[in-house]
Amino acid sequence: MTNQQSVTKPTALQVVDGVDMAGKTCVITGASAGLGRESARALASAGAHVVLAARSHEALADAEQWVRAEVPGARTSTVQLDLTALSSVRAAAAAVAEIAPVIHVLMNNAGVMFTPFSRTADGFEIQFGTNHLGHFELTRLLIPQLIAANGARIVNLSSDGHRMSDVDLDDANWERRDYDKFAAYGASKTANVLHMVELDRLLRDLGVRAYAVHPGVVATSLARHMSRDDFADLNRFAPAQQSTKTIDVRRDFSTPEHGAATQVWAAISPELSAVGSVYLADCAIIDDVAPYAIDKAHALALWELSKKLCGPEELLVGGG
Ligand SMILES: NC(=O)c1ccc[n+]([C@@H]2O[C@H](COP(=O)([O-])OP(=O)(O)OC[C@H]3O[C@@H](n4cnc5c(N)ncnc54)[C@H](OP(=O)(O)O)[C@@H]3O)[C@@H](O)[C@H]2O)c1
Repeated sequence: MTNQQSVTKPTALQVVDGVDMAGKTCVITGASAGLGRESARALASAGAHVVLAARSHEALADAEQWVRAEVPGARTSTVQLDLTALSSVRAAAAAVAEIAPVIHVLMNNAGVMFTPFSRTADGFEIQFGTNHLGHFELTRLLIPQLIAANGARIVNLSSDGHRMSDVDLDDANWERRDYDKFAAYGASKTANVLHMVELDRLLRDLGVRAYAVHPGVVATSLARHMSRDDFADLNRFAPAQQSTKTIDVRRDFSTPEHGAATQVWAAISPELSAVGSVYLADCAIIDDVAPYAIDKAHALALWELSKKLCGPEELLVGGG
């Protein structure tokens, strides 16, 4: 999508035009910047109480102030959340549950991309730990609040970058391989889809549906770890990306206003009320997903591994 083409696609604000979310609560991770902040503005403008979660107190305060200035009368709260430490995730889940005993939308949006090798406080590879395991733990701790909504949605931000790599369940934390930051991002984005598949299977009968979203290629601060050489290096993944279209990430990008449209659509669209466990892009269901990302047995295996890595905390449903 070029910048010019993006003009014909809806913005997140247009997606919520005429939608009434009054009385509903939406929790958004990574709401201090980029797609998360734009989603917060759109959902607040529809009347939802929006809980903005992110790492930095200052960035959160700025984002909340921005949403309130953009949307007079907006109902917002903030919760400090660092996905690179399970202790912070657990404290954030407790704080969210205190603010929001009922959650209608949980948008697992925060993320990092192509970061140099490092580990989280709990020893997980940084991209898998931040993008997947932190959200896995947050989500499982908020399941009671989601069930209480009698019709909730979980929206996991994935990426077409999931095509770069499956998750290696035998070495998910890169302990026995040379590190490849591109493949590690791809694996974490595959994990976001697999997480969604298992969440939907586990929770659909309890009124909670789950979705995975590719927002497009959007000009945000996500690419801050990329060098000029990295753009060239990405070409080696081109064959894996062929199944959709060839994207020139230096040219084909949209703005956060347009980029946030699909995740907001996932959160509110009546077209999805009887559907779950689907991959979305351009405000539509997309069938073109890497088969390993929607494999049900693989999704269950990732769930079991994630549970083992995050600790013994039991789910309140299905012995999960
Ligand atoms: N932009 C794109 O082209 C694109 C394409 C495909 C998929 N996506 C996905 O869309 C999502 C949002 O990306 P974006 O483009 O909006 O990126 P962004 O502008 O960099 O925003 C990322 C957000 O995540 C937060 N975050 C990062 N690390 C965190 C941590 N450890 N704990 C809590 N929050 C953390 C950031 O806050 P702090 O760093 O201040 O903590 C920020 O609020 C990501 O999951 C990304 O993978 C984006």
